[in-house]
Amino acid sequence: MRLLPRQALEAWNTFGVPSRADWLCRATTVLEAREAVAFAADRGLPVTVLGGGSNVVLLSRVPGVVIRMEITGFEVRARQGERAMVQVGAGEDWPRLVDRCLEGGLHGLENLTDIPGTAGAAPVQNIGAYGVEVADVLEEVRCLEVPSGREVLLDRRACCLGYRDSLFKSRAPGRYLVVGVTLGLSTRPEVRVEYEGLAREIARQGLSAPSPRDVARLVRQVRRDRLPNPARLGNAGSFFVNPVVEDGVAAALLERYPDLPTFPAGPGRRKLAAGWLIERCGFKGRALGRVGVHRDHALVLVNLGGATGREVIDAAQVIRRAVRETFGVDLEMEPRVLGTDDPEDRRES
Ligand code: EPU
Repeated sequence: MRLLPRQALEAWNTFGVPSRADWLCRATTVLEAREAVAFAADRGLPVTVLGGGSNVVLLSRVPGVVIRMEITGFEVRARQGERAMVQVGAGEDWPRLVDRCLEGGLHGLENLTDIPGTAGAAPVQNIGAYGVEVADVLEEVRCLEVPSGREVLLDRRACCLGYRDSLFKSRAPGRYLVVGVTLGLSTRPEVRVEYEGLAREIARQGLSAPSPRDVARLVRQVRRDRLPNPARLGNAGSFFVNPVVEDGVAAALLERYPDLPTFPAGPGRRKLAAGWLIERCGFKGRALGRVGVHRDHALVLVNLGGATGREVIDAAQVIRRAVRETFGVDLEMEPRVLGTDDPEDRRES
């Protein structure tokens, strides 16, 4: 295992903000990850895991040991009737994994095409798009339990997956390091096309029986039309989760704002479109210093060039305040904020 001191993390986060790790370990095996955890435990240092860095806001310094999860591996473990179990390493690139499954006739991930990040991060946020969440296909998650250093296998139920939520994110943050995931996919080409934006595109293109390949192609197209490519414009996808409120709150808002998009979110609750709330507050396409609100999608904050993590968070606070004052709704950030602002770095900037 190689641990490197004082490593820049700018290239390892899709916002492209400057930051550095006290120690960085690029773990390509479970053993390397375990050794990095032990190194940190021996010195009383915190451990932070980075996957693709596509759902984080980094402050200027991430103290302790940062483990960049680079464990690869792709294996179709078992086929039973129309089901196939696909076991993948946590460091596998998610978009490549989706393409590979599609090419191999393994279905269920098409709607999740092109989501930046790694396979290991997928259950942490319970990534989702166009009507499908990773919860729909996840079978098991292999983890390192940080306190004990043991490898444990958690089934889907144990992962407590909810809308952009999981055991790893909110119930036991920091306890488990995801080292691999097992997905249950279908060898039968079935598609999920109920999501409004996707259904609209399918109708527009006159596809009466879209194939999984059609769905993947359309999802890619819809994403490219609306979401900025992090390789060109730093961002972390949706910056806020869509707020879920009681039916009564949604009804009161709809009385005042009849065109507010809302969606069912379990018994007695509705999800509100955060992008709409932000757009209605006048932020779409606006710059808040070096941080912008994307011109095609108000839910996406972008690094206009040279922004720091602190500036991203400050811009987010301005937006949150405006949405709270206008609609009485609290927005919760989707990306994880990692690290601290080092006084030393503040003097330098
Ligand atoms: N909307 C606006 N203005 C905007 C943006 C959106 O009015 O600037 C409205 C749309 O017109 C639509 C509604 O908001 O009626 C929902 O918009 P969209 O379909 O784009 O989806 P979203 O709720 O904004 C979520 C996920 C995305 C995912 C899409 C598609 C969250 C936090 N985000 O966005 O996930 O790609 O649905 O399924 O749930 C991500 O998590 O990083 C992400 C990109």
